[in-house]
Amino acid sequence: MPLSHHYWMAEALRQARRGFYSTPPNPHVGCVIVDGGKMIGSGWHGYSGGPHAEVNALQSAEIPTGADFYITLEPCSHHGKTPPCVDALIEAKPARVIVAMEDPNPQACGRGLEKLRAHGIDVVSGVLEAEARELNRGFIKRMEQGLPFVSIKMACSLDGRSALKNGSSRWITSKASRRDVQFLRAGAGAILSSAQTVLDDDPSLNLRLTRQDLKQVFEQRQPARVLVDSRLRLSGSEKLFDADGEILIYTLSEDADRQERLAARGATVIRLEADPSAHICLTAMLRDLARRGINDVHSECGQRLAGALLSQRLADQIVLYLAPHLLGSEARGGFDLGEITDMGQRKNCSIRDIRQLGDDLRLTLSVD
Ligand SMILES: NC(=O)c1ccc[n+]([C@@H]2O[C@H](COP(=O)([O-])OP(=O)(O)OC[C@H]3O[C@@H](n4cnc5c(N)ncnc54)[C@H](OP(=O)(O)O)[C@@H]3O)[C@@H](O)[C@H]2O)c1
Repeated sequence: MPLSHHYWMAEALRQARRGFYSTPPNPHVGCVIVDGGKMIGSGWHGYSGGPHAEVNALQSAEIPTGADFYITLEPCSHHGKTPPCVDALIEAKPARVIVAMEDPNPQACGRGLEKLRAHGIDVVSGVLEAEARELNRGFIKRMEQGLPFVSIKMACSLDGRSALKNGSSRWITSKASRRDVQFLRAGAGAILSSAQTVLDDDPSLNLRLTRQDLKQVFEQRQPARVLVDSRLRLSGSEKLFDADGEILIYTLSEDADRQERLAARGATVIRLEADPSAHICLTAMLRDLARRGINDVHSECGQRLAGALLSQRLADQIVLYLAPHLLGSEARGGFDLGEITDMGQRKNCSIRDIRQLGDDLRLTLSVD
């Protein structure tokens, strides 16, 4: 019995994941070429500006005409940093092109597939679409909504406490959980935190895993470190300024001296308008990050900023590390949502994954 479209698309998705940490801001894309029931070529997109998955697959072997191409994303039909893949496909004269999903870019959506059909090539779309969308959830959200996918990491005690009343939170979770957080950082274009957390904890907020740890062919970038600092309280002497990588500081402050002091430490200071609550407008900040090509934001902040992201419906996911100890009711909560007086107002989440890391539990939840 011939292997199904799903079988080959699963293989194309596996190829796409090989660039998981290096491909952004471009989408993760994989391609396999099948002829006579056998995979005869494969490729994946490795880094922005590098050859696309289809081109890598075409170059991976001698490709006969009449083959089937399985691609996790509609082939591009426009000239970007590389020529349109759809033209390379047409030249290869395939029998069928099977894609998992259309291009999420509203300006390009469907055009590549139309061009293939216009050249008499059979096109099937939507095979393992949910899996393909999940793989590129940040890229898709940026294309469709002009916003990045926002994931909030929170380490809590068993009674849901994220720091002691005096601000101390080191360490709530085990070494295994903290190493796991490094992988979350690696998968993000930006790590979001606040001046408050930096002043309390003095973290570096950088990626300390190697390419070998990440099992990557290509070097991945340091994610940008993004800080909410409405009054420019950071001095530039904090540890994070000593580590390599881009630093973006969003502020309401017009204080030129402070801006210059931080710029001299390598930070880009971006002034935004306040929202009605006199805070930095988080939507404007996230839109600016999307414009800068950030698909995925990984947040490591305290209860107030985490609560604001949730209250404003800007967070898509929570990754909650639960450690087996109790910090008591005087300690700080995980998410400051203000007072909820009606159970109907509670924030609902859906558990997507649970696993044990060292002594801790890690829950991955989508925010409903
Ligand atoms: N357990 C964990 O996983 C974890 C992770 C990180 C930090 N922490 C702990 O959390 C503690 C800090 O918590 P925190 O609640 O004081 O600070 P936080 O949540 O990290 O940041 C608070 C800051 O966020 C900004 N903010 C708050 N509401 C906002 C809104 N509606 N719109 C825009 N910006 C808003 C404000 O910045 P401006 O004042 O600049 O306006 C505020 O000072 C630290 O002690 C740290 O140890 C724990």
